[in-house]
Amino acid sequence: MTSGNLLTDHPALYEARFPDPERLAGRWAEDCLRRHGAGPRVLDMGCGTGRDAAHLHACGRTVTGADRSEAMLAHARSHHPGPTYVRADLHGFDFGRAAHDAVVCLDSTLLYCHTNAQLDGFLASCRRTLERGGLLVAEMRNGAYFLGRTDLLGRTALDSFTWQGTTYRSRTTLSVDRTAQLLRRSRVWTTDDGSPPLVQHSAWRLLFPQELRHFLTAHGFDVLELHDGPGPRTEPPWREGRLPGTRTDADRLHLVARLRTA
Ligand SMILES: C[S@@+](CC[C@H](N)C(=O)[O-])C[C@H]1O[C@@H](n2cnc3c(N)ncnc32)[C@H](O)[C@@H]1O
Repeated sequence: MTSGNLLTDHPALYEARFPDPERLAGRWAEDCLRRHGAGPRVLDMGCGTGRDAAHLHACGRTVTGADRSEAMLAHARSHHPGPTYVRADLHGFDFGRAAHDAVVCLDSTLLYCHTNAQLDGFLASCRRTLERGGLLVAEMRNGAYFLGRTDLLGRTALDSFTWQGTTYRSRTTLSVDRTAQLLRRSRVWTTDDGSPPLVQHSAWRLLFPQELRHFLTAHGFDVLELHDGPGPRTEPPWREGRLPGTRTDADRLHLVARLRTA
């Protein structure tokens, strides 16, 4: 058995596993930016395969896509050209002062800030890179969903998909680490092409809405929107014209915050 991150290491497989043919995530992010009058310079932090960065570029924005995975960046440069793609760490990055009008951070990437110090590092970096009045737009799992709910925990979920003639099967278990305040995922991939099984461990910060508000306020942001949907990964999904809700009860959290001008 080997270890690694099958999907992050193989971006084409990532896109096959999580298809977004309608560019719903990119359209949702663009809608947030437009509704709140963001300027053109956008940083997509944790840009992954570059799909969303390229969509924002196609909307006329000047986009920097940043990720720590060289495999993701190489895929983004060749498959989703337009943005500038650079290697950077979410926990602390420096593109110079006031280099961007908005930072977007999609699909729970922000939750790879596991510790308070990493969250502080991310928000301090956002503050440095943003123009005064600039926006932070993020979309992630909602830690509060797990308060009193165990439907996703303590069971093994089986899944499979086929890509380029190979069937990939996964066995996934989720658990809550209350001490570290993390959602931990253990996943074993097997394929029918003779490769050895791949075991993968991931974790996301269980960040609660009021806690997030506190961090944002402390770093000089005003929260404009914080809600559980509709969004690109909710059911039913967001569509153009659908306005943000007011609750933070369901399993996704959507954030728009503005860096204070004074
Ligand atoms: C779930 S993917 C989301 C990709 C993309 N934002 C999307 O919505 O399709 C998370 C991404 O975050 C990146 N990532 C994880 N930890 C990171 C870190 N510390 N700094 C920068 N990128 C990181 C991974 O390489 C991966 O591309």
